[in-house]
Amino acid sequence: MPLNHIIIIMKNKLLYIFAGIMAALPVVAQTDAIQVGNDGKSWNITTRSSVYRLIVNSAGNVQTVCYGDRLLAETTGGAMGDEIPVRGGYVSATPMLEVVFPDGVRDVELEYKTSEITAIDGYPVLKTVQRDKYYPLEIASFIRVLPEYDMIEKWVEVVNTGKKGAIRIENLLSGSVFLPKDVYELTHYSGVWGHEFTPQTTKLTQGTKTLQVKDFKSYGSSSFMVRPEGENDKYRGKVWFGSLIYSGNWRIDFEKFFNGNVQIAGGMNFWDQEINLKPGQTVTAPRMLFGYTGQGAEGVAMSLVSYTREKLLPAPHRDRTRPVLYNSWYATTFNVNEEHQLALAKVAKEIGVEMFVIDDGWFKGRVNDKAGLGDWTVDKNKFPDGLKPMIEKINETGLDFGIWIEPEMVNPNSDLYRAHPDWVFHFPNRQRHEGRNQLILNLAREDVYQYLYQYFHNLLKENNIKFIKWDMNKAMTDPGFPSAPADEQRAVRIKYVENLYRLVETLRKEFPEVWFENCSSGGGRIDLAMMSRFDFNWVSDNTDPVERIFIQDAYLSLFPANTMISWVTQEDWHRMNPSLEYKFDVCMAGVLGVGYDITKWNDQQKRIATEKIAQYKKIRETVQKGDVFRIVSPFEENRSVIQYVDKSKRKAVIFVYNMAEYPANASDETQRTPLVKLRGLSPDAHYRIENIDGSYSGRYLMEIGIALPLRGAFASRIFVVNTE
Ligand code: DGJ
Repeated sequence: MPLNHIIIIMKNKLLYIFAGIMAALPVVAQTDAIQVGNDGKSWNITTRSSVYRLIVNSAGNVQTVCYGDRLLAETTGGAMGDEIPVRGGYVSATPMLEVVFPDGVRDVELEYKTSEITAIDGYPVLKTVQRDKYYPLEIASFIRVLPEYDMIEKWVEVVNTGKKGAIRIENLLSGSVFLPKDVYELTHYSGVWGHEFTPQTTKLTQGTKTLQVKDFKSYGSSSFMVRPEGENDKYRGKVWFGSLIYSGNWRIDFEKFFNGNVQIAGGMNFWDQEINLKPGQTVTAPRMLFGYTGQGAEGVAMSLVSYTREKLLPAPHRDRTRPVLYNSWYATTFNVNEEHQLALAKVAKEIGVEMFVIDDGWFKGRVNDKAGLGDWTVDKNKFPDGLKPMIEKINETGLDFGIWIEPEMVNPNSDLYRAHPDWVFHFPNRQRHEGRNQLILNLAREDVYQYLYQYFHNLLKENNIKFIKWDMNKAMTDPGFPSAPADEQRAVRIKYVENLYRLVETLRKEFPEVWFENCSSGGGRIDLAMMSRFDFNWVSDNTDPVERIFIQDAYLSLFPANTMISWVTQEDWHRMNPSLEYKFDVCMAGVLGVGYDITKWNDQQKRIATEKIAQYKKIRETVQKGDVFRIVSPFEENRSVIQYVDKSKRKAVIFVYNMAEYPANASDETQRTPLVKLRGLSPDAHYRIENIDGSYSGRYLMEIGIALPLRGAFASRIFVVNTE
C-alpha cells in the first residue's frame, strides 16, 4: 500500500514521520502503526499480529476491508461492510446507529468528512468523521491501536450540530468489525450466582447470536472469542476476541451472513433506553476492545490479562503487592461486634494476615438483611464507642483495617428510605420490586450522588480505613425516574453508571492509599470498566474449593491473578471434607484471604494456616505479578495445573489440584496427562524444581514435560521452579 505518512510509537512517544524520510526507516519501524494511503482516504492499522483496513469508497462511505491476520494486508477484494453500519438505505448489517430526526425521518445517510491521527496515553488513535448528508448529525469513530497487545479499542461520538430539535437515538453501539468468510464458533462466559464465568461454545450459523445484559449485573462477561470451527488448539490458531469496557446494560451481536462473513457489533444495550440529543450535545459510547491473535486461547488470555494489568488497573496500586486478607462474612454474617472482631483480629495477626476486613453488619439497624442499608452510621449496639477505638486496637496489633459498604442500595426499613422514598428507582402506580429486601437508589439523581459522596467521604476521613469492599446485591427492576424530564427518562441507566464511576473515582482521588474491592453478590459485576477503577474482585460467593478451581480457571483466562480474591472458608458444597491445606492451595492462586471463624481453630489448624500463609508470602510476587499459563484445564480433565512465571523467567510456581484419581490405565486421558509440559520458560536456561530431583532445560520442561508427583483425589501441591 503506498504511504504518505506513518505513525510510530516508541517508548510512548508519538513520532509523526512523513513519507520523505520513510525510505530510510528499517522495516520494523512500520509495525505498531497507522498507515495512511496516498489519497488520505485509506488506512492500514497494524498490531503485532493483525491488520485492520479501512477505506473511503467512491460514494464517500467509510468501509471496512479486512480484519485479522497481517497476511490480509494483501487483500485486494472489496469492502465487507460499513465502518458504522446505520439504519438507513439497504440495511445489510447489524446497525450501530439508529435515530429518529425531529421531523420523524428514521433513515441515516452518512458521508465521509475528515480524519486525523492523534494519541491517547501514547497509543495512536485514528479518528474518522462522517456527517449525515442532510440532517445535523455528525459521528466520529475512533480506533485506538494497542500494538503489543494485538488489540484495538473502538468507540464513537455523536453530535447534534443543529440549532433546534432533539435527535432521538434509539441505538448507538461502540464498535463493529467484520471477519473473513469462514465457519466460526463463539466462546463466551455466562453465569449465575455461585457459578461465575462458565465458558460456553456454540457454532455461529446464519442469523444473529446476541449476548446481552439488561441489568447492571450478570455473573458472566462481555468477553468473547471467535475461532474457525474445530480449531481449538490452546496455543495456536486464529482467534478474534473482545470485551466491552462498560458496567451497565450491554449487548454484543454476532451476525453470520449468508456469504460466510461474520460481523461482531457491541456496546450499550438500548433495550428500554434512548437518548434525546439536543442541539450542541454530544454523546460518547463506551470503548469496546477487539483483538486478533494467531496464538489460540492462550494468546487471548495473554493479551487481555497483560493489558488489564499494565494499562487498566488503577495506577496508584497497579504494581503494589496485595496483602493477605481476613474477611468476617463467613465467620459472623451480620452478627458482628467489637469483642468478637478483636478476637478474630488477634488470631488473624498470629497466623500472618495483613489486612482485617469487617464485612456486612456494622452499621445502624443491620441485624439481618431486612434493615439498615442507606443509614451509614455505626451501630452503637454492636460498637458502643464507634469504629475508631476498635480500628485503633486492630492497628495496634499490626493489621490494617478494611470495611464493607453497599452504597447503591437501600432497605425500605431504613431512615434514609423513610425520609426519601422517591430516591429509589420506581414507577408510579407500579410495585417496587425488592430483592434481598432492598431497592436500588437512583444514582442518576444528583441529590442521591451527593448524599452517598458525603457519607463515604466522612467514613474514610474520620477512620483509618485502608480497604473498601464495595458490594451491590440487587438485580435491576423498576428503572423509573418519574421526576426527570420526559425526554431524559430512558437515559437513566446511562446517568446511573456515569455517577457510579464518578463516585468511585472521586473517593479514590481523595483517599489514594485505600484499596478498593469490587463485589456484586460475588462476581456479578466484573468487567473491564470496573477493573479500571477497582484493585480486586470478589470473584464468587462460592468458596467450595473444587467449585472454585473451575471459577478461578475461567477468571484467570480473562483477568489478572492480582485482582482475584479468594478466602479459605468452611464451605464444602459436595461434602468431600477437603483438607485445610487443599483449601489454602486453591486460594493461594490469586490474592489470599481467610474467612473462617478462626477464634474456634485448634492449634493444628492455626499451625497449618501459619505455614501456608508464610509459603504464600514467599511465592506471591510470582503469583500476583507473573504471567499465568493454565496448563491443564479442570473443564477438560480431572485435575487442574496452573503455572505462574515471573517476568525474568527465572522463577515459576506451579499449582496442581487433583479432583479425582483413576487407575493410570483407565482411559486414554489418564495415560496422557501424567507428563505436564510447562510454558513460558527460557528454553536455554536450566531449572530445578523444589522437591524433584534433577536439573532440566527450559526446552525439556516445555517440550518433553515432567511428572508432577501428586497422588489421591482432592490432593494438591505447589511446586517452585528456579533457574540454577
Ligand atoms: C454478598 C457478597 O458477595 C458477600 O461476600 C457478602 O459481602 C454479602 N453480600 C454481605 O451482605
